[in-house]
Amino acid sequence: MGELVVGIDIGTTKICTIVGEVRANDTYILGIGVEPARGMRKGMVTDVDLLGASISSSVHKAERASGYEIGRAFVSLSANHILAINSSGMTGISGTREVDVTDLERAIEAARAVPLSHGFEMLHIMPRRYNLDEHKGIRSPLGMHGFRLEVETHLISASSTSLRNLEKCVEKAGVYVDRFVVNPLASGDVVLTQTERESGVMVLDIGGGTTDIAIFMEGTVWYTGAVPVGGQLVTSDIAHVLSLPFDLAEAVKLEFGHADPREINALETFPVQPFGEEKLSKVKRYDLSMIINARITELFELVMREIVASDFEGLLPAGVVLTGGGSLLPGMKAVANQVMKMPARVAQPENISGMADSLRSPAYSTSVGLLRLGLIMDIEDTRRANARRENRPPRASNESGSFGKFLGGIVKRFLPEDESP
Ligand SMILES: Nc1ncnc2c1ncn2[C@@H]1O[C@H](COP(=O)(O)OP(=O)(O)OP(=O)(O)O)[C@@H](O)[C@H]1O
Ligand SMILES: [Mg+2]
Repeated sequence: MGELVVGIDIGTTKICTIVGEVRANDTYILGIGVEPARGMRKGMVTDVDLLGASISSSVHKAERASGYEIGRAFVSLSANHILAINSSGMTGISGTREVDVTDLERAIEAARAVPLSHGFEMLHIMPRRYNLDEHKGIRSPLGMHGFRLEVETHLISASSTSLRNLEKCVEKAGVYVDRFVVNPLASGDVVLTQTERESGVMVLDIGGGTTDIAIFMEGTVWYTGAVPVGGQLVTSDIAHVLSLPFDLAEAVKLEFGHADPREINALETFPVQPFGEEKLSKVKRYDLSMIINARITELFELVMREIVASDFEGLLPAGVVLTGGGSLLPGMKAVANQVMKMPARVAQPENISGMADSLRSPAYSTSVGLLRLGLIMDIEDTRRANARRENRPPRASNESGSFGKFLGGIVKRFLPEDESP
């Protein structure tokens, strides 16, 4: 048995609520509710009532599918509204005793004591590695001897107004926000292999409104960020250049779109009906691909600019893992390869079972990752808080039987839809 949890992925184009059981090696999906998102733009709330109603429908669908009444959930947050920095903190170890959890906490407190930007609050504090005297890069120094303990952390703070607005929308759906989880960390959790995380890899979650970035090295996260370019901008370009309504441009993109013009036969055409024209006109698929390629090239160049500015260039031997709905465009891997000059692959959630078929798409990486990472963060916080209280080293999570903490507020109330008479 695993832990029953709920995640609500609030994207720019879709809301996805998942009820699942997080087990040691997989996530068992009990129910899903997907609903088009309204009242969101580039990961930001633009209309509380509209978004609240979209979340409500998504939650109700997941309730009907799973048979559970949802009281609380982990909620995704676009990396567009965050500030992420690496910070280290130091503490002395008195006497000749072993390092205990209170020492770790003191070092972490020192690392998080950085001035926050106005209107921002701390969201994630992720210890990356420890240095104990001359020993560098220790994963866990508990029980070791030393005099000077340093921790390197990745700190993510988020705009308080963005958090409160999202919280308000989720509460309108009758759900309490258990914790926010930043998108690309959730996606990274389900699409990366341990080898990739250890060697150095970048996750790009190409969504509708934004592309969220996370860099993992030595098994932990080193960089989180976003660029404000996503699939909707590609569709807007197509709509603009071909004089098509947005919905038709989206349909054209999904049916004929390709990010790599080198793969397209120059003679191939498709029919469309532009604004104000009576007759269908023919468009070259190559021209469509050139429109898409221009925006996608810009996207990858913007990402590279971030990588170079943050000094990660040349440090990512495992390359880039593309996910998010935008990565479904054919040709993305080749263009990523060409522009960013690193290995690339497109990935979707792995290790899911139960009602999981519709989630096996890059568009649902954040939605699935949210369950597992939210729970891991919760357990980590609880363990640290307990250990601090008891002033003794925390137990390893596998000693506690299952995942350690009961997540209340979700109650089996009725039969799932497909089991009802
Ligand atoms: N088969 C496909 N081919 C090309 N593009 C696709 C395909 N399926 C989805 N997309 C694009 O993916 C985008 C939506 O991706 P996704 O569902 O990951 O976004 P989101 O989570 O709602 O938004 P965000 O994370 O940016 O807030 C849309 O722009 C859509 O056009
Ligand atoms: Mg998304």
